[in-house]
Amino acid sequence: MQIVDLATNHLTNPLGYALGGSPRFSWMVEGAKGRAQKSARIEVALDEAFTTLLYDTGFDPSLSSICTSLPQLALAPRTRYYWRVSVLSDADERATSAPAWFETAKLDEPWQARWISPVQQEKRHPILFRDFKVEKPIRQARAYVCGLGLYTLTLSGVPTSKDCLTPGLCAYDKWLPYQSYDVTGLIVPGENRIQIQLGNGWYKGRYGLDITREYHYGEDFAAICELILTFEDGTEQVIASDTRWQSLRSCILDSSIFDGERRDDTLLPGEACAVREIALDKGLLQPRRNPPVRIMQTLSPVAVIHTPAGETVLDMGQNMVGWLEFTCRAPKGSEFYLQFGEVLQDGNFYRDNMRTALCEYHYVSDGKPKAVRPTFTFYGFRYVKLTKWPQDVALSDFRGLVLYTTLPATGSLLTANEKVNQLIQNTLWGQRGNFVDNPSDCPQRDERMGWTGDAQIFFDTAAYNMDVYPFYSKYCYDLAREQAALEGCVPVVIPKHDVTQKGACAWGDAATIIPWRLYVRYGDVQLLQEQYPSMKAWVDYIRSRDRETGDTRLWRGDFHYGDWLSLDVEDPVEERFGGTDHVYLASCYYYYSATLVSKAAQVLGLTAQSQSYAALAEEVRAAILNVYCTPTGRLAVNTQTAYVLALYMDFLPPEWREQAAYDLTQKLKQADYHLRTGFIGTPYLCRVLTDIGRNDIAYRLLLQEDFPSWLYQVNMGATTIWERWNSILPDGSISDTGMNSLNHYSYGSIVQWLYQYAAGIVPLEEAPGMRRFAIAPHPDPAIGWIQARYKAPSGEITVAWAYDEAGQFSLEVSVPFGAQATLTLPEGADSTPKVLYAGHYRWQYPALSAQKLPLDLDTPVLEIYRHPRAVKVLEAAFPELTGMMLFDMFAGQRSLNDLIRDQFIAPDDSRLNGLPQALSAVADEKEARQKRTR
Ligand code: BGC
Repeated sequence: MQIVDLATNHLTNPLGYALGGSPRFSWMVEGAKGRAQKSARIEVALDEAFTTLLYDTGFDPSLSSICTSLPQLALAPRTRYYWRVSVLSDADERATSAPAWFETAKLDEPWQARWISPVQQEKRHPILFRDFKVEKPIRQARAYVCGLGLYTLTLSGVPTSKDCLTPGLCAYDKWLPYQSYDVTGLIVPGENRIQIQLGNGWYKGRYGLDITREYHYGEDFAAICELILTFEDGTEQVIASDTRWQSLRSCILDSSIFDGERRDDTLLPGEACAVREIALDKGLLQPRRNPPVRIMQTLSPVAVIHTPAGETVLDMGQNMVGWLEFTCRAPKGSEFYLQFGEVLQDGNFYRDNMRTALCEYHYVSDGKPKAVRPTFTFYGFRYVKLTKWPQDVALSDFRGLVLYTTLPATGSLLTANEKVNQLIQNTLWGQRGNFVDNPSDCPQRDERMGWTGDAQIFFDTAAYNMDVYPFYSKYCYDLAREQAALEGCVPVVIPKHDVTQKGACAWGDAATIIPWRLYVRYGDVQLLQEQYPSMKAWVDYIRSRDRETGDTRLWRGDFHYGDWLSLDVEDPVEERFGGTDHVYLASCYYYYSATLVSKAAQVLGLTAQSQSYAALAEEVRAAILNVYCTPTGRLAVNTQTAYVLALYMDFLPPEWREQAAYDLTQKLKQADYHLRTGFIGTPYLCRVLTDIGRNDIAYRLLLQEDFPSWLYQVNMGATTIWERWNSILPDGSISDTGMNSLNHYSYGSIVQWLYQYAAGIVPLEEAPGMRRFAIAPHPDPAIGWIQARYKAPSGEITVAWAYDEAGQFSLEVSVPFGAQATLTLPEGADSTPKVLYAGHYRWQYPALSAQKLPLDLDTPVLEIYRHPRAVKVLEAAFPELTGMMLFDMFAGQRSLNDLIRDQFIAPDDSRLNGLPQALSAVADEKEARQKRTR
């Protein structure tokens, strides 16, 4: 038995991170004979050998491997705490882990350093530095640093980390993250130089919705830094930023998130200039919350294209986010000019969908061969136009450096369908590209912002793919800070930056949905506690809007994005706000968020609040039913999304639910089984279909290949998820330039359905952290087989199912150590839930679907009409129906069961007895196929 994956707040050996109220420890157990942990013990010490023990829980059966916090531990600033865990299994195995550690940042220790800025502010980017001498042997050195807008830190020319785009994106007016680095190995005896290079970034460059403005949070480059040297003799020296530092000019002439970077290596740094102290509030400084953005992958371009317009364009083979690095071999003074785009049009380079973002890189060589790449920008691109390229074009000179936040991969998913696999990969690439420190809508055009709707929609998909705990908790932290300044209203973008738009439904509800889903998935009550005031404030805000508009328990009178970019409107390009009534949608979210606040309050033991939000939810529900349902229970908002929300949010009385479920299937039939949903309806569509027992339609939508569908994009060669269902038209032309990113992950939320429903790995609200979970696969022969792995907080879960040619269905699952799964076997096996403990399990049995008759009462009538001899059988049985003029067209996608429901046939009509068998007996696939192709 081994204990692995020790983490503090889901980070491996974190140095200088915000730890919340108290650090939370987690671990996993592998290779045990036992099935669960009987007891565990955590020891915390000041040294790796655990001689200076600070805390010892002793063996304690209540310690959770998913999340244990030790509030008793009083933490000192700038201190490394070693911890290890011992586990006793229920088979009496015992093991102790290797030591892990976390190190505190400055905590509440005051800063000696000052915020400094070059005296001469110019566009050309500065380097702030100080030289110092080290005369005694060093025991350790740490740097605590923040630079604005972006910075890199070097010691005597050597970068102190692989982190990129630090300090990252946050609500800079509310807090400023500083990084802590162990620089012990970079301090040399004698002369040293500490150097901070600065760029514009999100803080002060061109970024935000107001594309005309450059400065948003501050005009000045600024940095603060404390380099703390601890000598072998125990003494300390602090090299703190102050007016003894100086400033040089770097080779970077300008940079911006949207426009790219300009660098000229022939430039000399010039004379060192003075720096001044500037009045930035040191009280805003807080330890970082997010793990760093780094180069996570390197891609090689797949081709050099010579376009009809005479351009030379590189094809990376993948829509990626990050940098293009190239080897420069050109003589001094040679100019390079690169432009980045996502798609070719008529075979030529194209970038109109980037809107005003220039996405360029300019470089002038100093004649020294070297690898060149930008520093203070990033691009979302597949194609790079070599607009000026002063040397041979050799593919081996280029590398695509893929940037995203360092979050460990937790999931993998494979099916027998190559196109679905591509869709899964496209979604993963969408996540990579839009997880550059903050969840963004898109990574390329003049936007790249933390839209709350997009972040909320994608949460669970993201959480199957990667351990997103620190990433989303930082986002929630920013959200709560922004919201606090707006009396509970959640801006539509986090950090708010220059966006003034007030909270809209499904967007602002990120405030309730994300913390609740974080809690359910990761089981950290402390996080829920931290976010609870924000969750509550959001619902209180909606309540105040309700009060102001007549106290009807509906959310009226505000702007909403609605079912953004849905297709149920006359002209989806012009009309972006969807076809579903906005007050209905807003009120659904009012209801839903109130229920989440009630649930959260319940978990936190706030019974009175839980009851009061449950009561509010009940009132909203009653108002929705009153206004949006007929007295007999038909939903009066007749769109796919309206039904999907009613069913997903489950606010219809149980006796009305079945009708709404049926009506949804009818809506889909009318659309020839194509979705019409936008940002609100799409994420829940297949989930609802499976829940209402129409898994077949969920698969049908998934596997649909023509527009609009997920696989349409795949067929069109997409390597990421598009913003619009038809971002690219069948002829390869782009459908719109205003709102048309080719890397917009929201519709990738279908991947959650694949993990949670198709494979069936289900987190349970009543068992947060997935110590207990459900395994409820929803297979379908249409996809052949699926193999899913998910490293849940409780350990790795696997589910694999397959159909074979003999009609057998097999299922293999594994449950991790310490966990418990409730399995519901599909495909006609005994569906009584079975409780499984740690271990690997396998079943094989005849698949019910293999026994399904080719034609039955659920087959669309149109399909029966493809089998000429079956038509004869039907005509003989129901002449009064089939004799109706245009009967086959009239019935169309409706099945005989639908006709029973619509009272064309009485349910007890004896002619139905044996009809499926009689129809199937004469069904002829060959003839039907011929008919289909005619
Ligand atoms: C973004 C979306 C966002 C939307 C608001 C767009 O510009 O790209 O993804 O959620 O605005 O409707």
